[in-house]
Amino acid sequence: MKRIVVLISGGGSNLQALIDARLAEIALVVSNRADAFGLERARKAGIATLLLPLKQWLAAGGTRDGYDADVAKHVTAARPDLIVLAGWMHVFGPAFLDVAPAKVINLHPALPGQFPGARGIERAFEAYKRGEVAQTGIMVHEVIPEVDAGPVLGTAAVPIWLTDDLDALSSRMHTAEHKLLVEVVRRILSA
Ligand code: GRF
Repeated sequence: MKRIVVLISGGGSNLQALIDARLAEIALVVSNRADAFGLERARKAGIATLLLPLKQWLAAGGTRDGYDADVAKHVTAARPDLIVLAGWMHVFGPAFLDVAPAKVINLHPALPGQFPGARGIERAFEAYKRGEVAQTGIMVHEVIPEVDAGPVLGTAAVPIWLTDDLDALSSRMHTAEHKLLVEVVRRILSA
């Protein structure tokens, strides 16, 4: 079975989708936040976890590049065939990306070129209310140093409805994310 490493910062519903799909051995889950619920999901599934908070690293005198290199060291030790950023709220620079031992992919809650950075769903919903967009969507892409950009591996459009509130839209987005992420990971691992 192929091995993946998943990096998270939050609820970990996308991690859960990968756990449930049983596509690969999840060799390690890394979080940069102690309160990320995804850590609990991983522990419950018997997956090794590692907490690597940037704040603590910087407080101890470390640099951002040093942090990226440290994360890379731990990820490499898990011998992944694929590295999945699933709600990982930290932008990796070359100190991670240049030494990563496998392809690094990211899930972004917007279509290519749209709403890079945080709060993608909320910002799309606000743009919809201003009449600037008619729909939103999600993408999975290869990671480059630019935020939420890089070769696109899969997309899915998600409609926004007049009756939506942010919760309804977010829930439809997450359902689409879980499906697309599993599809893309399956495709990459079987190539
Ligand atoms: C997802 O919406 C993802 O696109 C974004 O962060 C969210 C993570 O959700 N980058 P979860 O932690 O997988 O539930």
